[in-house]
Amino acid sequence: IKKIGVMTSGGDSPGMNAALRSVVRTCAFHGVECLGIYRGYQGLIEGDFKEMTARSVNNIINKGGTILKSARSQEFRTVEGRKKAYEHVKASGMDALVVIGGDGSFTGGMVFNEEFNFPVMGIPGTIDNDIYGTSSTLGFDTALNTVVECIDKIRDTASSHNRLFFVEVMGRDVGHIALNAGVGAGAEEILIPEEDMGKDRLVESLKRSRESGKSSSIVVVAEGDKTGDNVFELKDYVEKNMPEYEVRVSVLGHMQRGGSPSCWDRVLASRMGVKAVESLLEGKTNYMVGINNNKIELCPLDMAVKGKTEIDTELLRVSDIMTV
Ligand code: F6P
Repeated sequence: IKKIGVMTSGGDSPGMNAALRSVVRTCAFHGVECLGIYRGYQGLIEGDFKEMTARSVNNIINKGGTILKSARSQEFRTVEGRKKAYEHVKASGMDALVVIGGDGSFTGGMVFNEEFNFPVMGIPGTIDNDIYGTSSTLGFDTALNTVVECIDKIRDTASSHNRLFFVEVMGRDVGHIALNAGVGAGAEEILIPEEDMGKDRLVESLKRSRESGKSSSIVVVAEGDKTGDNVFELKDYVEKNMPEYEVRVSVLGHMQRGGSPSCWDRVLASRMGVKAVESLLEGKTNYMVGINNNKIELCPLDMAVKGKTEIDTELLRVSDIMTV
């Protein structure tokens, strides 16, 4: 392998730039050329490439977002789109690809590999932590810290006004952000898609908590949770059943995807980038780099795509005990 392409794809996450830096510098270290691909698979289709040297990635380890930009390409889902991409890939002399992204991006990489026998390696970049084969995705830790900082601030105003706040957090179909940030911020209740609490149990629990002497409460709601139709409907339901409480909703939104990556995410990105490039150089293909028990290891891409992550039930129990 003489020339490796690298792209960021799907929703951006803090740590993507740090991973890009690591891939580019590991290539430089091993005397391999590196091409940055702009706007994910769309850039692959359009041949939007730029040569990257160790100096192209100066001062980006601390930057949120992705300097390569990201996109969700519809055209790459078509055979014609992928053929166009392959033409550009061949013309550029690229002979392997590192995809930094989530499961949709890995599916694209697998299809490309199947159709053109092209070596592909994945690095999990998403705040949702919803990728099988790694206990942590790039950006998850930073997003947790952002959410906890926001909830700390909401708690100040909640307790000053004796209010109940619903705080909606991201996470797509899974509750990892909600559960971990909820415990970290000391939320009274955490609603996640993996555990259906039901509206009545929620109200009972909030009543108990009020009777136990709490004058304000924070309920963290994962965006994928189905306890109510949505967080505003939950607010109406609780207000109706607990007229003693003033209820407010705060939807944190895309601020959770931005910001400077935490030290954990920077170190993880650096380790994953090295492993991705060195695995390609060893002739491995169709894997994702993951971290488990603090060891960097490979997981077959199809397992990473098909496998489901599980919620930490012990953490749920811890959360219940903390809200006694
Ligand atoms: O996958 C990351 C994520 O931020 C999810 O948490 C969220 O559901 C989704 O992306 C939002 O996507 P978009 O930025 O396209 O609205």
